[in-house]
Amino acid sequence: MDTATLFDFDILIIGSGAAGLSLALKTAEFAKVAVLSKGTLSQGATYWAQGGIAAVLDESDSIDAHIADTLDSGAGLCHEEIVRHIVEHSQQAIQWLVEQGVPFTVLTPEEAGSGPASMPLNRDNLKPLHLTQEGGHSHRRIIHATDATGRAVFETLKYRALQTPGITLFENRLAIDLITSEKLGLPGKTCVGAYVFNPDSDKVEVFKARFVILACGGASKAYLYTTNPDSATGDGIAMAWRAGCRVANMEFNQFHPTCLYHPHAKSFLITEALRGEGATLELPDGSRFMPEFDARAELAPRDIVARAIDHEMKRLGCDCVYLNISHQPAAFIKEHFPTIYARCLEYGIDITLDRIPVVPAAHYTCGGVMVDKCGRTDISNLYAIGETSFTGLHGANRMASNSLLECFVLAFGAAEDIYSRLDYIEKVPVSIPDWDESRVTRSQEEVVVAHNWDELRRVMWDFVGIVRSDSRLLRASKRIDLLEQEISFHYRHYLISRDSLELRNLVLVAKLIVDCALLRKESRGLHFNIDYPDLSDVATDTILRP
Ligand code: FAD
Ligand code: SIN
Repeated sequence: MDTATLFDFDILIIGSGAAGLSLALKTAEFAKVAVLSKGTLSQGATYWAQGGIAAVLDESDSIDAHIADTLDSGAGLCHEEIVRHIVEHSQQAIQWLVEQGVPFTVLTPEEAGSGPASMPLNRDNLKPLHLTQEGGHSHRRIIHATDATGRAVFETLKYRALQTPGITLFENRLAIDLITSEKLGLPGKTCVGAYVFNPDSDKVEVFKARFVILACGGASKAYLYTTNPDSATGDGIAMAWRAGCRVANMEFNQFHPTCLYHPHAKSFLITEALRGEGATLELPDGSRFMPEFDARAELAPRDIVARAIDHEMKRLGCDCVYLNISHQPAAFIKEHFPTIYARCLEYGIDITLDRIPVVPAAHYTCGGVMVDKCGRTDISNLYAIGETSFTGLHGANRMASNSLLECFVLAFGAAEDIYSRLDYIEKVPVSIPDWDESRVTRSQEEVVVAHNWDELRRVMWDFVGIVRSDSRLLRASKRIDLLEQEISFHYRHYLISRDSLELRNLVLVAKLIVDCALLRKESRGLHFNIDYPDLSDVATDTILRP
């Protein structure tokens, strides 16, 4: 393996999901942009998003109601200023997506006049968009493309990016680490690029850039069972931490209540929008249980629903609970949930007739790299946007469909900020040393990587899950320390691979999750510790400094 290629761009965006592609489209108007994806372009969580995007478009809804719902779901830990900023830009975000051509579901003539719908916002400005509902929302305010919103958004933005001359898209490029002035022995704390592994050529390439943006998605692969694609290994958070950025609130890993429970179904989410359209959660004997846990029943915020399911499964010793939408007409189900209908049918479950077996699974990283509303991190010219970032929007529990919204609004903010600074930031003048691999050899022990992947994710699932205790967290911490030593040894002595690089990031992020969880001496939102079951009077973020 050798280093050779040197790329030089104005803007390097690491990640091709909703956040990365939106920023690329916004900045390509005035700069030369590179977008990297460590696999194919579609490999992030965005492609898999189902329910939709929260936005205030209905006249009976209000910005204040969306803010109040977000603050309530966030269990007292949301930063109200950023919540307001993001919610106030929700209409602009949807308008922009409509202009890009995203085919959102519109109201059918039969539905028109029978309930809340958006003001006309589709491309021809003729038909109102259909609004659905999800947990924590007091109004129907989820804009969606049936039950495959992420795919519709991703395909549209990718199509636009491919047509935009200022954007170069790189697939199969895995960023290893950021290059900072500090690492080069220069004064200040500025990001000037990244070392990037190209598995096709087995080379490490240097990407120089005036601005670097981490848009790498979340870290839910730290858990054995997750709704997330394989890419969610927390690379952005790990790279930022190693470069010297603060990270916050990593203990708030969200578990989605309803992931399909089937031996052959890997990571398949059953959208919360099903509950928005009346689906009930049931025990094996057919009885409903959510009304006993919260007055909002199946539409309570996610932390409450996931914890209730976990409680009932442990109480009864059952493998799953059931989600039942069969009371709705078959035609309605097939029209609104075609993806879920088809996928469940592959496993012999006809959701128009049968109940769907479901379990909670790790879904979303509420914490991340600390940024302001433009995505600026602690390091000059380094930004983080999307699930990688921590803005303060989600508090202790993200409200459904606020994540994609945050991706777009942060991307817009970062684009404006970069535009305002472009003239003052010079091209990177420094010469960057090649990647040094003179001291590594090919490993004969790749089994260590495979084993540690499994062990880490099982430790996190068993000891750092929905319900925690200090003794479980300490047990996890010890094991993670040991795994980190082994993985670090492997990294320093052997040639890199995608698996080993991702594992190096994942073990670091797992450590950050456990460290944050140990520091929180209360139960709040997604973090429930039986040793501290109560809520503290004062809500504070858990901030870690490298
Ligand atoms: P991603 O879309 O995850 O993209 C990450 C990108 O970074 C990928 O291109 C990946 O290849 C790249 N990358 C990562 N590491 C590296 C590296 N080291 N080098 C190079 N490239 C790298 N949210 C909602 O608001 N509404 C929903 O309905 C919804 N449904 C969801 C359903 C599912 C099944 C899942 C998993 C999540 C859902 N979410 C939803 C959450 C939401 O989809 C994600 O938070 C959001 O898409 C994250 O977008 P992103 O651009 O930050 O990252
Ligand atoms: C879902 O469709 O249930 C997921 C929505 C989200 O994660 O915001």
